[in-house]
Amino acid sequence: MEYKMLYNGTKVPVIGLGTWQIGGRNEADSSRDRENVAAIKGAIRLGYTLIDTAEMYGAGHTEELVGEAITGHDRSKLFIVSKVMSRNLAYDDLLRSAKGSLDRLKTGYFDLYLIHGPNPSIPIAETMRAMDYLVANGLARFIGVSNFSVAELEEAQKHTRNPIAANQVQYSLMVRNESTYGPYRNMESETIPYCQRHSILVMADRPLHKGVLLQDANPVLDELAAKYHKTKAQVAINWLISKEGIITIPMSMSEAHLRENLGAAGWKLEKEDMQKLDNAKFSDVGR
Ligand SMILES: NC(=O)c1ccc[n+]([C@@H]2O[C@H](COP(=O)([O-])OP(=O)(O)OC[C@H]3O[C@@H](n4cnc5c(N)ncnc54)[C@H](OP(=O)(O)O)[C@@H]3O)[C@@H](O)[C@H]2O)c1
Repeated sequence: MEYKMLYNGTKVPVIGLGTWQIGGRNEADSSRDRENVAAIKGAIRLGYTLIDTAEMYGAGHTEELVGEAITGHDRSKLFIVSKVMSRNLAYDDLLRSAKGSLDRLKTGYFDLYLIHGPNPSIPIAETMRAMDYLVANGLARFIGVSNFSVAELEEAQKHTRNPIAANQVQYSLMVRNESTYGPYRNMESETIPYCQRHSILVMADRPLHKGVLLQDANPVLDELAAKYHKTKAQVAINWLISKEGIITIPMSMSEAHLRENLGAAGWKLEKEDMQKLDNAKFSDVGR
């Protein structure tokens, strides 16, 4: 596995496992628990050590499945990321959410705890005070945010003693500056360059646009997959992780895809091919 570094030199794998829709979307779905736990365990066996989840996913059930899958593994070798829902950003709510997530994950600490999205109706100073409490009490090694703009990052950083270590944003060949799941903008043009300048790790979410990216023929992606003898998924993921300060977290419950996605690391697109992809047009992603 390749690694990138957090601001203090801590190594983070360039490819982690996303978990949205495992164990439900906005509500718990227990119908496939056994195969989901087996798939997460399988991912760890294949070499995934970073797992990205959230209290929102499956209304907490996804965290329970991750908790079950990581039980028995050397915790110090894993990098567990979870997120507090943006409606729970008041001081007491955030601490309650964090403790709930830790219980479901059956772990004593998050490697990285993120604010899932900004909430202008709750003062960010209060939220960051709660995030600081988690670090001060050993409940989170690092704190970060998700879907924050430059202005929101700057404001959040003013109110915490701890560096904001990461910003998770939607970013893929298909989605550059306009999120399809929220009112978030300018990831490529503003937020990512700001994060790169300030040593804030970018976690690119939805890297395969839920698989849609791979469905249509695209002349540039097809050409480069053939040139490098890689799959389109591997080229799309490599384009992300070849960029400075960016890692990504594709979700898959298929062993073949999990293996394939890991094969996106360990090699590099040439500069001119990166530029071709930078400039490639992908069909309208819809909303
Ligand atoms: N912070 C946020 O607000 C936010 C928002 C969205 C997502 N996220 C995080 O980012 C993660 C990734 O995003 P996502 O799950 O929405 O979408 P994604 O990773 O872009 O796509 C996942 C889909 O692609 C398929 N897939 C994966 N690898 C494949 C391959 N090699 N070939 C063909 N199909 C493949 C998967 O199906 P199979 O199971 O069949 O492989 C799954 O249906 C999430 O799981 C979540 O952890 C965060």
